[in-house]
Amino acid sequence: MSEVVSYELRENIGVILVNNPPVNALAQEVRLGILNAVNAAQEDASQAIVLACEGRTFIAGADITEFGKPPKDPGLPEVLTAIENSSKPVVAAIHGTALGGGFEVALACHYRCASPSAKVGLPEVKLGLLPGAGGTQRVPRITGVQAALDMITSGNPIRAVKANAMGLVDEVLADEDVVGGASEYTKGLIEAGAPLKRIRDITIDPSSLEPDFFDNARKQLARRARGQIAQDRIVSCLEAAVNLPIDEGLERERELFRELVVSPESAAMRHIFFAERQAAKIKDVAKDTPLRPIEKVAVIGGGTMGGGIAMCFANVGIPVVLLEINDEAIGRGMGIIRKNYTITVQKGKLAEDRMEERIGLISGTTSYDDIRDVDMVIEAVFENLDLKKEVFGKLDTVCKPGCILATNTSYQDVDAIAEATSRPKDVVGMHFFSPANVMKLLEVVRGAATADDVLATVMQIGKKIGKVCALSGVCYGFIGNRMLGGYGREAQMLLLDGCTPAQVDGALEAFGMAMGPLAMGDLAGLDVGYKARQARTDLPDDPKLYRMGTLLVEMGRHGQKTGTGFYKYDPETRKRMSDPEVEALIIEEAGKMDIEQREISNDEIIARCFYPLINEGAKILEEGIAQRASDIDVVYIYGYAFPVAKGGPMHYADSVGLKNVYDKICEYRDCYGEEYWQPAPLLKQLAEEGKSFAQWDAESGVA
Ligand code: 3HC
Ligand code: NAI
Repeated sequence: MSEVVSYELRENIGVILVNNPPVNALAQEVRLGILNAVNAAQEDASQAIVLACEGRTFIAGADITEFGKPPKDPGLPEVLTAIENSSKPVVAAIHGTALGGGFEVALACHYRCASPSAKVGLPEVKLGLLPGAGGTQRVPRITGVQAALDMITSGNPIRAVKANAMGLVDEVLADEDVVGGASEYTKGLIEAGAPLKRIRDITIDPSSLEPDFFDNARKQLARRARGQIAQDRIVSCLEAAVNLPIDEGLERERELFRELVVSPESAAMRHIFFAERQAAKIKDVAKDTPLRPIEKVAVIGGGTMGGGIAMCFANVGIPVVLLEINDEAIGRGMGIIRKNYTITVQKGKLAEDRMEERIGLISGTTSYDDIRDVDMVIEAVFENLDLKKEVFGKLDTVCKPGCILATNTSYQDVDAIAEATSRPKDVVGMHFFSPANVMKLLEVVRGAATADDVLATVMQIGKKIGKVCALSGVCYGFIGNRMLGGYGREAQMLLLDGCTPAQVDGALEAFGMAMGPLAMGDLAGLDVGYKARQARTDLPDDPKLYRMGTLLVEMGRHGQKTGTGFYKYDPETRKRMSDPEVEALIIEEAGKMDIEQREISNDEIIARCFYPLINEGAKILEEGIAQRASDIDVVYIYGYAFPVAKGGPMHYADSVGLKNVYDKICEYRDCYGEEYWQPAPLLKQLAEEGKSFAQWDAESGVA
């Protein structure tokens, strides 16, 4: 048929096989190949057609790289019409993941069978899109509207057995031999004279829904959508599925898909899809670098981070030894681990026996003798360089050769830690984010001597434990925390200039941040930043700098834990409320410093808070601390809850235009001083050349 789609008659069954590695995406030649094969099958001796895929998965969706480019015939709807109108039953044989357009192909088939480990899903919403080839019209006809709404607005895949129970899959096969199993299943259908079952023939009874079903759905989704419009459009499609004949519903779906595919939100989310996959690749480490086997891990320090890190490994079946200073600390650490798992069980996301299995994989010890046989150690003791060096010195004496020695330090010099050992090539940073068992980001910190196979192994194990990995060089705060400095600083400066805390946080939350920086400070504890600042000698001697944060701590207002900080908190509900006392204090302090307070727009708040972050990102790029601008975006999306619909700070800067960002930074420099606003040379250069960070990535050969 074509290079990527083959067709052959096997006895009385026509078998279409798609072979477009790595994930059988529906590129133009795949669409054409399937169309030709279905047409050919109409003319031959086949009595039914099986549509299956080679390689690791059934079709995993439209080819995302084609979006934004001129469409090429045949379009997917044309292919699906040919399948649905086939005079012979077409059976989708699903293995791996049938996602997006791939699952929509399966839904146009007359029957669907799946291997036991297969999953099906419509993840388009994660790309700021909606299923554009009938998913929103066909799924509710099978599952009912509520289940379809949950499936399509979450984008989460569904396992074969559950999909079977929901009617999305007709048959779960006995084993993973999907073509063999599907052929047997299809022979059974032929023998039984099974009809051409078309989902389009099912109608939905509108009276099965509450009258305000769609309004309520819109309201609920708006709360969690954070600047994304796709959820709203998905509700519109489901409304069409209920109220319109299917062809009009399909037309409506197509129209809304076309709107979303050109939206900035979807462009940003597609950017992150590829950035996330790119970030794990290290430009000067060969793809086929042999990996070190990781079968047993030790975590040193079972506090806030160590406990969460231990859970990450136990969750994927890797045994963990948790080393602490005494039995009491072990008990405390294990207690927190159990508590965290129990919450997951209570939410219905983990079976109780699985919880016990996982906890059973974590053993506590106070003796270094118990970690002699581990393949990897992650140190998470207090943030103190001398202590960390001492720990690494001990690790050096007990750990077996080849054991990877990682530190979870937030700020300490990984090279100085490596020097405490006789094997700096085995030392690496693995910077998890809190809570470590939840947050997706893992900054992998490359020391001066870190071996390539250590980096490759850490990237691979990071993916295995469900993290998104990004490489950072050694510097104070690595990529993420280093960039954050100016963000927090300006949030507080804005108060003195005339904003209330609610105004600063409100503007950033409207932009899409889950929580503004001042509320975040209250949550983390204002005393934490206060103590960290006291230990620093490099900050400008300026009374305005962090003035409000410092004052509040000195008044005993440490944030949520004391019930007051930038805000006051309801003792029962923890709801944050503006505090007139703080607002009066800000005005008083501004007066003392002769600062003339003024009205400040949301746009200014966003620029003042984010542009320092972008500027630092440019410095990080030119220093080679980050490999790509898109890696920085990944760090901010997965580590700092930057809104994915904005694509990360660097992508956001590209969307604003680097010249505009640069000009504004120069304006702020002239107004607020060079010590805070010093444009990065790379930003200046790109602004002058009219280029973007994405172009910089492409031209640097790292994209
Ligand atoms: N289009 C183009 N490239 C794709 C792709 C797609 N739909 N899906 C994956 N790829 C590429 C990845 O970029 C990666 O490329 P690289 O090796 O050069 O980095 C490669 O395929 C392998 O992908 P992963 O590293 O993600 O492989 P995994 O095995 O970890 O995961 C997967 C496989 C679960 C299929 C995952 O790739 C995935 O979730 N893909 C996207 C699925 C998706 O979103 N589909 C919907 C697309 S939109 C659509 O279909 C619209 C329709 O309704 C009209
Ligand atoms: P924590 O104070 O909650 O836990 C530290 C644990 O280490 C304590 O349980 C302590 O008993 C144990 N410990 C101390 N000395 C030890 C030793 N010699 N041997 C074995 N155990 C020892 O601290 P937290 O927050 O877990 O931080 C740990 C590390 O992780 C620090 O380097 C920190 O910078 C880093 N980190 C912290 C994040 C956070 O949000 N808390 C985020 C990312 C990294």
